[in-house]
Amino acid sequence: MGKILKLDTDVINKIAAGEVVERPASVVKELVDNSLDAGATDIEITIENGGASLIQVADNGGGISADDLLLALEPHATSKLNSIDDLSVLETLGFRGEALASISAVARLTLQSKQASATTAWQVALGDDGQYQTSKTVLSGGTVLSVADLFYNVPARKKFLKQASTEFNHIMDLVTRFALIYPNVAWRLIHNGREQLNCSVTSDWFERVADVLGKDKLTDWQSYHWESEKIKISGFVSKPNHWQNRRNNQYIYVNHRPISSALISKAIIDGIGHLLPSGSYPAYLIHLEMPSDVLDVNVHPRKSEVKFEDEHLVFSAVRQLMQRTMTTSVVSGENKPSPVIFANKNEGFIQPSFFKKNYQDNNKNFDAVRASKFIYEPLKFVDTTLSLSDSAPPAQNVEPDWRLIGQWGTEFILVEFQKSLMVIDQHALAEGLLFLKLKRASEAGSVLRKQSLLIPAQLELSAWQENLLLEFKDVLLELGFEVENFGGRTYVVQAVPADLSAVSAEELLLGILNDLALEDKAAEIEKKREQLLKYASCRGAIKFGEHLGETVMKSLVQEMFDLNAHTCAHGRPIYWLIDEAEALKKFGR
Ligand SMILES: Nc1ncnc2c1ncn2[C@@H]1O[C@H](COP(=O)(O)OP(=O)(O)OP(=O)(O)O)[C@@H](O)[C@H]1O
Ligand SMILES: [Mg+2]
Repeated sequence: MGKILKLDTDVINKIAAGEVVERPASVVKELVDNSLDAGATDIEITIENGGASLIQVADNGGGISADDLLLALEPHATSKLNSIDDLSVLETLGFRGEALASISAVARLTLQSKQASATTAWQVALGDDGQYQTSKTVLSGGTVLSVADLFYNVPARKKFLKQASTEFNHIMDLVTRFALIYPNVAWRLIHNGREQLNCSVTSDWFERVADVLGKDKLTDWQSYHWESEKIKISGFVSKPNHWQNRRNNQYIYVNHRPISSALISKAIIDGIGHLLPSGSYPAYLIHLEMPSDVLDVNVHPRKSEVKFEDEHLVFSAVRQLMQRTMTTSVVSGENKPSPVIFANKNEGFIQPSFFKKNYQDNNKNFDAVRASKFIYEPLKFVDTTLSLSDSAPPAQNVEPDWRLIGQWGTEFILVEFQKSLMVIDQHALAEGLLFLKLKRASEAGSVLRKQSLLIPAQLELSAWQENLLLEFKDVLLELGFEVENFGGRTYVVQAVPADLSAVSAEELLLGILNDLALEDKAAEIEKKREQLLKYASCRGAIKFGEHLGETVMKSLVQEMFDLNAHTCAHGRPIYWLIDEAEALKKFGR
């Protein structure tokens, strides 16, 4: 090792800036944070060359006084924090007084501002001597911050910038995130002279979501809202059958701050659980609001993560809310989303005053809905898994109004549902229902109903089949299988799960052992149990190619609505819904 030397300030600043300014999108984030903190209701973002040449953010916020302009660029200079205690009652997005200093260390910055009370606008910009200087400028109000030539003095960083289109995609994603959670702000985003986003102020959150993400989201997404004294959660999640095969359209916020959170993502996935086919992802927007003293926002250099004081509460609230939203989510042909509203006592929820306006604006829609006809019931922090005897409650806000049309070939069941034609895959439906019932019973720890066989089935097992049978003995027993050894590798099946008794016992058990043999041996027991349930449902279910009587079809479809089933055990959709409007369009009407 060489001799230890103290770094000079210039190097220190550039290294520190690296933490804050990772890429152009991080500059945009810091500038937008500042505009929002200044109370702006109109933010215009202009980008050139993916942000490498120019990033400009203009707002109509409170502005900066002429005296403070130079100070704003100094490290550790902020108007948002006085003492460390203020961190726990923080109501602004920024708090460190670091962002502008970091950006000015790695780019050429121009800051123009005019407070409403001032007669003149002032700016600071780099002079010929390389120092920032103050001068008069022309601006009607608010602040304009321009960042040119990002990383011009840090070539090592500049070369890591990706293509302009890639960098701009990051910016677009970021601005989208902000626009979705601040409907009370007008947003405009321009790249290389072309407008990429333009949304005007609205008090209707749905309207903003439709504006930013497209109108189809309103029918594809289920909205939800829940609050307790400690936490308020609202947002949207894609309805079953509207999953996506990429992890995009996933938006997480805490107190109007866009964040990423492995904890919340995991809670959502856990809550949606078995409905999610493998390789599919839900789209969602989730907004958590809570008092700032139960949050630590100072855990990430780009302020993009937070730490919750009570992680357990957050996790279980989100997980259960998702679970409940999915159970209540209904197949709906309507064009307006039907919010699922779960509410606890409202009193005692502490709203940071800064967010009050946004909070009220954002929830106007929910409040209106709440006063009208939608469900209004408490969500208790109890496990909502069900035993076999009490099947899931039917979706409460919709009377299942459907009519059986009949069987199509020996594969599909046709149903008229509301104004749509439902084409149901009969095997997927039977399998999905069996799986739901078996899984719920297994989770609730209740022993499944079994059916003793009039004539026990005798099986001659091979060595590997016997090994698997012994390995899964307990799970099979729980499911309702009764198998006895009759000497050597001869086994006798005395009983099978009642729900699966339509299939021959021999075919059922051998089929399941076959499926298990293909499985990853190292999988943990929980996964094995789930696999076994899947195979049992698949092997026990009505197949393609079977003629079905009217009574059987009706009871299957009724159960599908009652249990709110959307996918088979393997995650494939059970039905295909053809909208009347779609059919009319097809025929040019
Ligand atoms: N658009 C703006 N409108 C009004 N004031 C601004 C604006 N941008 C910056 N400021 C002022 O400049 C100060 C410094 O901004 P900077 O972003 O560097 O720090 P910060 O926002 O206080 O904290 P952080 O580093 O966490 O962002 C702010 O505290 C604020 O007073
Ligand atoms: Mg800031």
